[in-house]
Amino acid sequence: MQVIETIQALRSQRQQWQQGNQKVGFVPTMGNLHNGHLQLVKAAKAQCDTVVVSIFVNPMQFGANEDLSTYPRTIEEDKARLEALGVDAVFLPPVAEMYPRGLDQQTFVEVPGISEMLCGASRPGHFRGVATIVCKLFNMVQPDKAFFGQKDYQQLQVIRLMVKDLSLPVEIHGIATERESDGLAMSSRNGYLSAQQRALAPRLHLLMQELKGELISGRRDFAALTEHYSRQLNQSGFRTDYVEVRNAENLMPATSSDTRMVILIAAYLGTTRLIDNLEVAV
Ligand code: PAF
Repeated sequence: MQVIETIQALRSQRQQWQQGNQKVGFVPTMGNLHNGHLQLVKAAKAQCDTVVVSIFVNPMQFGANEDLSTYPRTIEEDKARLEALGVDAVFLPPVAEMYPRGLDQQTFVEVPGISEMLCGASRPGHFRGVATIVCKLFNMVQPDKAFFGQKDYQQLQVIRLMVKDLSLPVEIHGIATERESDGLAMSSRNGYLSAQQRALAPRLHLLMQELKGELISGRRDFAALTEHYSRQLNQSGFRTDYVEVRNAENLMPATSSDTRMVILIAAYLGTTRLIDNLEVAV
């Protein structure tokens, strides 16, 4: 597995793959890899000749009071896991390579509308940071296909819209959320939970499934439903940011004529913000 740290080295490698007519698959990550990431890599391996994984904790997508400095960094373990999966190259750029003029001077990509709602409302500038870094990484890696987890549902929709709006020549693949045996969606931030919080955390998925059952059985009183489940979560010890039922594509509030919906939840356990979602087709 090649370890590449500069854009120049990545570009010259990319040219060689191009000459060999190889289909390049790309998995962008912030490291601290868990099984969810590994599923993305496996999907990329299955569909492409060459697989590139990037590990870059992107400062532009963290708010001033967020966990940039404490975000878990486990580079050596990550490299070993990627090597074991047969990844061809890992791209590990330093911050100065990605933002040579500093964050304040950086040109950015913003996908309007969808970036301001839900997680975007609680984390202003977050999706601008995501769209900008993913666009830059696409320009560097020039992948044929890129793979993202459905766990970050809004992020996936933001990226799909960016690719469409900017006519980027990359196919986006969303891969199903990987869960622990008790239902908790895998996330690097799960490592922040205390034993007590960890025991409580699967309740998020459990209640989401109950809510899905209500929608499947025909209920469409969305406001009453989301209020009820938000209260349930808060009574269990979570502090909900939002509990929403939305149109699965544009993430606008669901209406009774929607046939593809998604339940989206963000809730804190202590200072750890967990997100999860469940698609509902009726
Ligand atoms: O999902 C993530 O880990 C990040 O948001 C991404 C897509 C790698 C961009 O930094």
